[in-house]
This record gives sequence, structure tokens and C-alpha cells, in this order.
Amino acid sequence: MELVNPLAESYAAKYSSGETPLLRELAAWTRQNHPEQHMLSGTVQGRFLSLVSHMLRPARILEIGTFTGYSALCLAEGLAPEGLLHTIELREADATVARSFFDRSDKGGQILLHTGNALDILPGLEETWDLVFIDADKPAYIDYFNLVFPRLRQNGFILADNVLFHGQVLQETIKGKSARGIQAFNDFIRTYPGIETTLLTIRDGLYLIRKS
Ligand SMILES: C[S@@+](CC[C@H](N)C(=O)[O-])C[C@H]1O[C@@H](n2cnc3c(N)ncnc32)[C@H](O)[C@@H]1O
Repeated sequence: MELVNPLAESYAAKYSSGETPLLRELAAWTRQNHPEQHMLSGTVQGRFLSLVSHMLRPARILEIGTFTGYSALCLAEGLAPEGLLHTIELREADATVARSFFDRSDKGGQILLHTGNALDILPGLEETWDLVFIDADKPAYIDYFNLVFPRLRQNGFILADNVLFHGQVLQETIKGKSARGIQAFNDFIRTYPGIETTLLTIRDGLYLIRKS
């Protein structure tokens, strides 16, 4: 289900800042060559991620679910001068594409790409996160949150993508493993103590969560 009216989406894109040439090339490459090109964050969400990052000037960013690297490059735009972004991708082929684009970015030296299952890699990352972007397999969102939250600094932020899951969470009966995983995550966050939240209706839904 298309949640945002396509006319509103293109109007929003028209009145939002554009992509850098490298992001435009990455998006075009992904659309032409990747069977799951729908996974790309896209221009409006990409600019939103960049703006959030610029607002926070984070020293440490974590991304779970790199894909071809679009959102990582957007988030990296706002990194503090000595800051680092860790991003985790399960599939070697996607990680290779992402690395090739990171290497062409002036932020490439600040991006640490981990290849493997985030559930195995996260316990070994001894960082204190300022900003976390969760965008990998939907049934594991609660596990990712539980692994990451103790390492999120006070007043740090988590953004979780696809929390409207193409409108499937609005149905009376929620079918499919991913949609059910997202619904379970949304219910979990709704009553979780010590956080402040807004569920933003940008693109496929973005949960913005602050550790209070
Ligand atoms: C929706 S895509 C990410 C899109 C990307 N953040 C962007 O906006 O361009 C989800 C990615 O998470 C990866 N993924 C799925 N399960 C994972 C896991 N357990 N650990 C790490 N990455 C995983 C998938 O291979 C896929 O590339």
C-alpha cells in the first residue's frame, strides 16, 4: 500500500534539498542493478537523516542494515569532525557495493563497515551511541533495541525505519512475519519506560526515540 500520496511525495522532494552527486549515482546504480532497490531510503528520508545528524553532530553513529550504503552516507554528513559511523550489513555483496561508494566519499575514512549478522556483531561494539538507525530485518527490531539501548547515551536518539510497514500494521489482521515483527516492536516501544517518542509518517514510518 502506498501510504504517502505520490503527488505529496514528489512535492516534498521538490521542496527538500537535493542529493549530492555521489548519492545520486549510488541511488541510480541501486535502481538499475539491485533486485531489492525498494529498500533504498530515498531523497526525502535521506535529507531528513542528514538533517537529524547535523542537529546532533554525533561522535558515534550506529546503523543496522547498510544495504548499498545510501542512508549511511546521509547520516555521516553530520558527524562530528573526529566522529565515527559503524554500519552493519549481513550480505557480503551489498557490503562490497557500499564500501566502494564509501571509499569515494570524503566521510569514507569515518565509516566502519561490519559484514555479518548484527545480532553477533553488536555485543562486540564497545561504543556509546549518540544516534542509532535501525533498518534491518523487521522481526529482530526488539532484539536490536535491547542490545543497543544500554549503550545509548542519555538524550541519545534511535530512529527505526518502516514502522508503518507499507500500511500492513493498519490492517485488522496483521499478516506476514515482518509486519508482525514491526507491530510487536511498536507495541513494545509504546510502553517502554524512560523514553520519549514520536512516530513520524515520513515515507514508510520512522520511529524517533529519545532516551530520557
Ligand atoms: C532496508 S535494507 C537497509 C537500507 C539502507 N539502510 C538504506 O536506507 O539504504 C535492510 C538491510 O539489512 C540487511 N540485514 C538483514 N538482516 C540483517 C542482520 N541480521 N544483520 C545485518 N544486516 C541485516 C539486509 O541484507 C539489507 O541490506
